[in-house]
Amino acid sequence: MSVELTHENDLAVLSLNRPEALNALSFAILREIGEALDAVAGMPGVRALLVTGAGDKAFCAGADIKELRERRLIDQKRGAELGQSVFAKLDRLPMASVALVNGYAFGGGAELALACTFRLASPAAIFGLPEIKLGLIPGYGGTQRLPRLIGEGRALEIIMTGRAVTADEAERIGLVNKVVEGDLREAGAKFARSFTRYSLPVMEFARRAVQRAADLPLAAGLETEAELSTLAYRTEDAEEGMRAFEEKRKPEFRDG
Ligand code: CAA
Repeated sequence: MSVELTHENDLAVLSLNRPEALNALSFAILREIGEALDAVAGMPGVRALLVTGAGDKAFCAGADIKELRERRLIDQKRGAELGQSVFAKLDRLPMASVALVNGYAFGGGAELALACTFRLASPAAIFGLPEIKLGLIPGYGGTQRLPRLIGEGRALEIIMTGRAVTADEAERIGLVNKVVEGDLREAGAKFARSFTRYSLPVMEFARRAVQRAADLPLAAGLETEAELSTLAYRTEDAEEGMRAFEEKRKPEFRDG
């Protein structure tokens, strides 16, 4: 297996494990990622997912270029749709995901990080969408998620030049949430624990509402917010949270 899924207390860890090819995404690995994400969705007790790449050189160097040669157009389109649909599963997980980018995150690797809810990077991380240098453009969501995250001008520059983005720049332009020194896995667990104590369904409503912001006109987005915030209000966790405030104690959320 080139994808490992482990479970540490309330955190699941999905690790790409093909360091000899810088964790490049073969179609087989993409399918394994999809299966692992389906498994995480059903794991009891998991409150966040960490996504990492094995080895100290790369998070993931993108689609497996050796598999991309001499394909029929229809197969190429199906391949893009496979990558897109696997990464879209991250949006639909009941818990948030955190990409831990420890080295190269190029092409499909950057797109995997972009599909996660949050991104942490080591100081040595390097991002890029170098497809243009291969005569290609990103196909696993990069042209859609990158501008939503950092704006159209910056996204187009990165896509059209194929240039590398250092961890520092990535943090400055909002491509990553934080650059962290030291053990990235530990930092990822600490970062995840800054929200895992809250209500899982309520966090999911927050993620849904924010995800819609980029897709909807303001009036429709505000309507979605009103609906989702009302749904949050109807949870037992909201009742517990407000009661705990009045009673001057910490709330005990039960994901209900
Ligand atoms: N696909 C297949 N194999 C890859 C790979 C990839 N994307 N990236 C690296 N590898 C393999 C190399 O072929 C090499 O294998 P061999 O030892 O068998 O030759 C091994 O991983 C180590 O790589 P390098 O020797 O190249 O390592 P380096 O340190 O010199 O360079 C790198 C690192 C700059 C990341 C370089 O490997 C590189 O440029 N990789 C390709 C990055 C890329 O173009 N990604 C985009 C792919 S297309 C895509 O992702 C489309 C999409 O939108 C989905």
